[in-house]
This record gives sequence, structure tokens and C-alpha cells, in this order.
Amino acid sequence: MIYPLLRHALFTLDAEVAHERTAALLKLAVKTPGMAAVLKRLFAPATRGLSQQIAGMHFAHPIGLAAGFDKHADLTHGMALLGFSHIEVGTVTPRPQAGNPKPRLFRLAQDDALINRMGFNSEGMQVVAERLATRPRALPVGINIGKNRDTALEQAGDDYLAAFTHLAPHADYVAVNISSPNTPGLRQLHETAALRELLEALIKANQWHRPIFLKISPDETPTQIEQVVATAIEAGISGIIATNTTLARPNLRSANANETGGLSGEPLKQAALETLRFVAQLTAKRVPIIGVGGISRAEDVYARLKAGASAVQLYTALVYQGPAVAARLSWGLSALMRRDGVRDISEVIGVEC
Ligand SMILES: Cc1cc2nc3c(=O)[nH]c(=O)nc-3n(C[C@H](O)[C@H](O)[C@H](O)COP(=O)(O)O)c2cc1C
Repeated sequence: MIYPLLRHALFTLDAEVAHERTAALLKLAVKTPGMAAVLKRLFAPATRGLSQQIAGMHFAHPIGLAAGFDKHADLTHGMALLGFSHIEVGTVTPRPQAGNPKPRLFRLAQDDALINRMGFNSEGMQVVAERLATRPRALPVGINIGKNRDTALEQAGDDYLAAFTHLAPHADYVAVNISSPNTPGLRQLHETAALRELLEALIKANQWHRPIFLKISPDETPTQIEQVVATAIEAGISGIIATNTTLARPNLRSANANETGGLSGEPLKQAALETLRFVAQLTAKRVPIIGVGGISRAEDVYARLKAGASAVQLYTALVYQGPAVAARLSWGLSALMRRDGVRDISEVIGVEC
């Protein structure tokens, strides 16, 4: 109830400064005696009929935190108190890098959207691995990996392999990010030969048997998506995350609409849902899919599950709705299922694929 006030104050700040202040507040809350218990109770999600195993991991309900919010693994304990079922840390690069010059994160308040061109600001795999070693154990914490900007695309595999071998032992799953629009050339890794080589190398190195997910872009053609899915499944991937941000600019009203970068939130919803639907058709339940992009209401979660997602993630709705968003969506989903006489989430997943 107090978030509208806090949001008003935060929205007077530059978007990245607001993010840093929020992160600092959360870290302070975790350290304040008694506060963890208060937050845990305040943001307790619905779990009855919503829990399931995905790629061998226990998800208490389907709503998780998308990559990008906790890039350096210093918020996992705080975010776990806000009722998310899983947290994806990253993207993390092998070597630390600053990312793009600021400003690089923009609110599009009239569109319930964000544009970012962060460019993989990362404290690097060494620091993040150390932090992940003390991650919360009550929920899956995934690690999303990428390449350094100054690594040539031909050497990208070495970067992913380095990040993978360093970070996989300290995470519950690994997400391979080939879909950020803010690292030049990265999306070329959707191309079949490069993707096959990359995934096969990671799977071969996976002595920890961590589930490996591939995070894809919503801007690929149907033919490209077909090839990506076929290649990923052949390589032995555990699942697909659909989708990252888009370079499209569909009918935006906000002043920041023409900023360069990836668009997230409400205007991404349709494209992300359509990509998920197509991926679900192609995978035909052989691997789980995590749906991401423009999810802001319980109805969106319900629609993604029906379209074939086993779980979902969000980022932008957290900025606009505040810390109760995961709990709110889980209770809303639970109510929708009760309305329809659905007792368990497994009855919903993929019914419309
Ligand atoms: C500021 C910002 C930074 C992001 N950074 C990453 C990232 O480092 N790696 C990644 O895979 N996705 C990143 N994303 C994309 C999100 O994980 C997600 O795929 C996208 O925002 C769509 O979900 P949403 O509409 O709920 O925000 C970022 C998104 C935002 C808004």
C-alpha cells in the first residue's frame, strides 16, 4: 500500500539511481534484526497447488525474478524475502566490465515499460561466484552468463565456458544469454553452427549436472526460432527462456521511446507471448519453458502457463508495482485457478499449445 508513495519519490530520480537506492534499502532490510521475518510474512506468496519440479528443481510457485535486476548476486537474500519462487542472477561476464555510459536505463511510464542499454555491467565471475557460495538455499538461484564486450564473437565460446565452469558449481541452474541486444553481435549466436558449438561445449563441461537453459530473443524470425529450438534440443539443453527485451518500438507514447536499447514491459507482452507459443509448439513438452516479457498481472501468468510455460519471470512489473508483485501475482493466479476448478498447476501448463 505504501509503494505508490515510495514509487513517486523513486520516479523523481534517474532510473538507475532509483534502482541503486532500492537495492541499498533491501540490503539494509536484510541486515536489520527482525526485518527478514517481517518481509517474509508481508510478501508470503500463494503456493498451494502451485508448486512443481522443473528440471529437477523445486519451484514453490511459478513467478521468478528475471535476469538484470540482481546482476552481481548481492540481492539474492533480499529478493528471496519478496516471495519470488526463483531468482536469476546476472548477466555475469568472465572479466569485470563497466557496461555502457550512463544514462542507460529509461522509464517509459506512459507505456508501463523500460528501455535499457546497460551493456552487461558486471563485477565479473570471480566476485559473483564468491557471493553465490552463500546464496539462499530455499529456492532455485540461477546464474545467467554472457561474454565480455571486447571478446571477439569467434572467441565467445571461451567466455561462456569460463563463466560456466566458474559459476555453475555455485548456482542451481545456468541460463545462457545469447539474446541481449546491447552487446554488439551477441544475437548472432542464435545462428545454428555457432549455437551448436557453444551449447555442446557447455554440456560437455557440465560435470555438476546443472540444468542449462537458453535465453532467446523475441526478434528472431520463425525460421531462426525453429533452428534455435532444434539445435538446443539436439545439444541436450534442459529448457528455454523466452524472451529477452525487444528492439521493436510498437506504438509507444512516452518521451523516452526513441532511446537505444532493449524494450521491456507491457509493449513486449504480445511478442513474448507469441514467441513462447511458437517455442512450445516446437518443443512439444520435451523441455520446460520459462516465459518472460511484459508479465504484470495474474492473467498474464495464467496465459503464459496455458501457452506452455512451466514458470515465468518478470522485471519491469517490479519497478511499476513494487515489492509485493510476486506475492500478488501468485495469489491472483491461485484465485484464477480456483475460479476454473483447477486444483494443480500441472493441469494448466500447455493446455493451449
Ligand atoms: C534494466 C534491465 C536489465 C536487464 N539485464 C538483463 C541481463 O543482464 N541479462 C538478461 O538475460 N536479461 C536482462 N534483462 C531482460 C529481462 O531479464 C527480461 O527478459 C525482460 O526485461 C523482459 O521481462 P519484463 O518485461 O518483465 O521486464 C534486463 C532487463 C532490464 C529492464
